[in-house]
Order: sequence, then C-alpha cells, then structure tokens
Amino acid sequence: MIELRVAETDEELELWRDVRRALLPNERAASVAELRSGGSFMLLAYRDSELAGSGSAAKSDLGGGSIFPRVLPEHRRNGIGTMLLQRLASHAEAAGYDTVGSMVEDAGALAFAQRFGFSETGRQVEQVRAVAADEPWPALPDGIEIVTAAERPGLIRQLYDELALQAFEDMPTPSKVEITPAEWESEWVTWPEATFAALAGGDIVGMAGLVQDADQPGRAENALTTVRRDWRGRGVARALKETTIAWASRHGIHEIYTWTQTGNENMRAVNERLGYVTRDISISVRRELPL
Ligand SMILES: CC(C)(COP(=O)(O)OP(=O)(O)OC[C@H]1O[C@@H](n2cnc3c(N)ncnc32)[C@H](O)[C@@H]1OP(=O)(O)O)[C@@H](O)C(=O)NCCC(=O)NCCS
Repeated sequence: MIELRVAETDEELELWRDVRRALLPNERAASVAELRSGGSFMLLAYRDSELAGSGSAAKSDLGGGSIFPRVLPEHRRNGIGTMLLQRLASHAEAAGYDTVGSMVEDAGALAFAQRFGFSETGRQVEQVRAVAADEPWPALPDGIEIVTAAERPGLIRQLYDELALQAFEDMPTPSKVEITPAEWESEWVTWPEATFAALAGGDIVGMAGLVQDADQPGRAENALTTVRRDWRGRGVARALKETTIAWASRHGIHEIYTWTQTGNENMRAVNERLGYVTRDISISVRRELPL
C-alpha cells in the first residue's frame, strides 16, 4: 500500500532530507531550519510502511511553482512518483500557480516528466573544482580591491540592489529570476566570511562567494558570480573566483561546485580556465496547470 504524509515534525523533515541526500549525493541539502523558513509543502511517501520517496512544492525563482517528486531507486515503477506528482501539482494549483516546473537528471526521470506533459525549457551544467591545500591568492586587476561581507555590514543587501538585479536580467534562464531581498539573504548569500565583493573606487562592480554545507563541510557551492556590465571582460570574475578558491583552501574545503545555465558560455569558460570540470547535466522541465 502506498501512503503520502505531509512532513511537519523535525524528524519527518530529517527523513525528507535523507531521501534528497540519497538521490542527490553531490548536492547540498537545506537544513531543517531552512526548510521551515522556506515555506515549502513537503511530503513523505511510504510503501508498505517503508520510506520510499519524498516530494516538495514551492514557489519557483523563475516564476510559477516548482515541484520535486523523488522515489528511492528500489521503489521505482510502482506508481509512487505518479502519486507524488499529482499531489504536488494539486497543491501548486491550489496555491494559485498556473505553471509548474521541475528538474530531471537522468533519462528515466525525463521519460516520466514527458509522460505527464512536461517539456524541456533549459539545461544546467554542473562544474566542479578540486581545491588543493594551498591555492594562491590572485593578482587583482588594476583599480580593484576585494572585501568580504563579514567586514562590511549591509553589503549583502547592497549586492542585491546594485548587482544581482542586473545579473538576473542578463542570465539566460527560460524566464527572469525573481527573488525578494529576504530570499536573497536567507537562501542565496548566506555566508558573509565567504562572500566577496570587488570594489572600484568604492563602487561595487562584482561579487562571488560560497554557500556552506553543514552536512559536508569539506565542500561548498559557488553562490552567484556576477560582474557589473561596464566592468565585464577585464578579469574581475576570474579574480573573484580565484579569491574564493584561495579562501576555501584555507578553510578545509576540498571541492567547490557550481551550476550554470546552457547559454551562459562566458561563465562556463571562466570556470574552465580556473580548472573546473563538468560533472553533471540537469534538464529543466515545465508545464501548465492543471495537470
Ligand atoms: C522520476 C521518478 C520520480 C519516477 O518515480 P516512479 O515511482 O518510478 O514513477 P511511476 O512508477 O509513477 O512511473 C509512472 C510512469 O512514468 C514513466 N517512467 C517512470 N520511470 C521511467 C523510466 N525509468 N523509464 C521510462 N519511463 C519511466 C512510465 O511511463 C511509468 O509508467 P509504467 O511504470 O506503467 O511504465 C523517479 O525516477 C525519481 O525519483 N527520479 C529522481 C528524481 C527526479 O528526477 N524526479 C522527477 C522530477 S519531474
């Protein structure tokens, strides 16, 4: 028998994290506190009382809703993914969304999504950089100084206003990224010591940084890397990312990974020159509601 339960208690949210970490071992999983503050609708799926999968439904940064049905490999092809998908889509519809998106990482999941009428809207490429023990600090382009958000209270909000909003217009996402300042500070830029801003004559012209992984402190994900339009092509992104790598190597981090949209060849080329290698590809899918 298959049963879906809403995950509410800390213990249930930990089980939700267990499923996510089992299926996406290379990726950071949000903490229970982050899951609570994110306000997602969370489900657990049981098959004959055994934990078999999980699901979540939330607002998408790209507009509309997002849903993630996940089934543990040994429980697949038993209709659990279908039950999760239908419940999550109903929830998104009731929340007022007229489209819903998801991400798939393998051919089977893509077949599942297509069967339910989802179609591809874009792809993300994951690149990974092994961090050595003593990575050098970079030489900075002329006129550039780098500061951290830990040294400058208020900098994280300033990065949103002065850089991120411009970056969202320029990123080749299927629709524009729309996040609030609160989401920026609670989900996107959360590690002040590892958030680096490039300044030119006191003005912010670029940023890069890391997102901490409390489950696996030896690895971290790149936060948004972006350079103000008039400063692009002058080595600022490279210097910021090299600063991030040098900082990571002194803080016990041996792996940095990052996701970039296909179409953003500039960012990927910067990463490749810094020694990042491609590890994974994820396909974004979307469809209209109701299902
Ligand atoms: C995608 C996923 C949720 C499917 O879960 P599931 O419980 O195996 O799916 P269901 O049993 O409900 O499958 C329903 C139908 O989808 C299609 N489908 C599912 N998995 C498939 C596969 N590996 N290959 C081809 N078709 C597949 C089939 O048409 C299947 O019906 P059938 O078994 O009668 O042929 C699961 O593989 C998973 O968790 N993958 C990783 C997370 C993910 O990518 N989620 C998808 C987000 S949209």
